[in-house]
Amino acid sequence: MSSSSSSSQRIVSFSVLALAIQFLFIQCVFSQSQNNAFLYHKCSDIEGKFTSKSPYETNLNSLFRQLSYRVPSTGFAASSSGNTPDKVNGLSLCRGDVSSSDCGSCLATAIPEISRRCPNNKAGIIWYDNCLVKYSSTNFFGKIDFENRVYLYNVNNVSDPSSFNMQTKTLLTELTKKATAGNNQKLFATGEKNLGKQKLYGLVQCTRDLRSESCKACLDGIIGEIPNCCDGKEGGRVVGASCNFRYEIYPFVKVA
Ligand SMILES: *[C@@H]1O[C@H](CO)[C@@H](O)[C@H](O)[C@H]1NC(C)=O
Repeated sequence: MSSSSSSSQRIVSFSVLALAIQFLFIQCVFSQSQNNAFLYHKCSDIEGKFTSKSPYETNLNSLFRQLSYRVPSTGFAASSSGNTPDKVNGLSLCRGDVSSSDCGSCLATAIPEISRRCPNNKAGIIWYDNCLVKYSSTNFFGKIDFENRVYLYNVNNVSDPSSFNMQTKTLLTELTKKATAGNNQKLFATGEKNLGKQKLYGLVQCTRDLRSESCKACLDGIIGEIPNCCDGKEGGRVVGASCNFRYEIYPFVKVA
């Protein structure tokens, strides 16, 4: 683990279930040495398992094909495959600033990887820098996922944490307004803020199955997590299954 590199980040991932916060693991990611770093995955045990060659497996494979086909051109798709009780629901979201080819290659990595990591699980989720893929037997479209979330932070500390945290919150709140404005179909916004000698860069995004009010509620919720995820850190992210933010003191948004 390098603590000197500004790209070195620490991941703290957890799931919130019945108000209990469980810290699962801590791991390092070198986000700039890899273009599309793997962040985290979670297999749901609650929904149980499907058996090989079952209708559920057929529907899941069909869902994955639909997502691979539909997502790269727009960066998002939500889709279902099959009929109850073997219906599978899923969505995939690429980061708003990635090209359609990077989006496609993220899915081409993520889909086999989630199948490998969650073999026969009826529900699962996987996050990379550039995309997320989630599937479930439960219809979750339009609902904020409060359970699945990953925290990441840059290991470097800022010198004035309380004012820095406030500036971060201000920037991300402004970006939330921009992302949820009526004409913003992508539920995505990036921006920057001058902090005297340095600049703060930010990004917010929601999955597009959410209405803009739900997107705002989701983002307000994770922005409220700044003291827990990245208090006084030079960079931080809360990456959920319905929304995410990132801020850094260096430009990280991809320019087309
Ligand atoms: C940041 O601050 C924490 C808590 O004071 C400390 O443990 C850590 O070593 C610091 N990180 C760096 C990179 O100096």
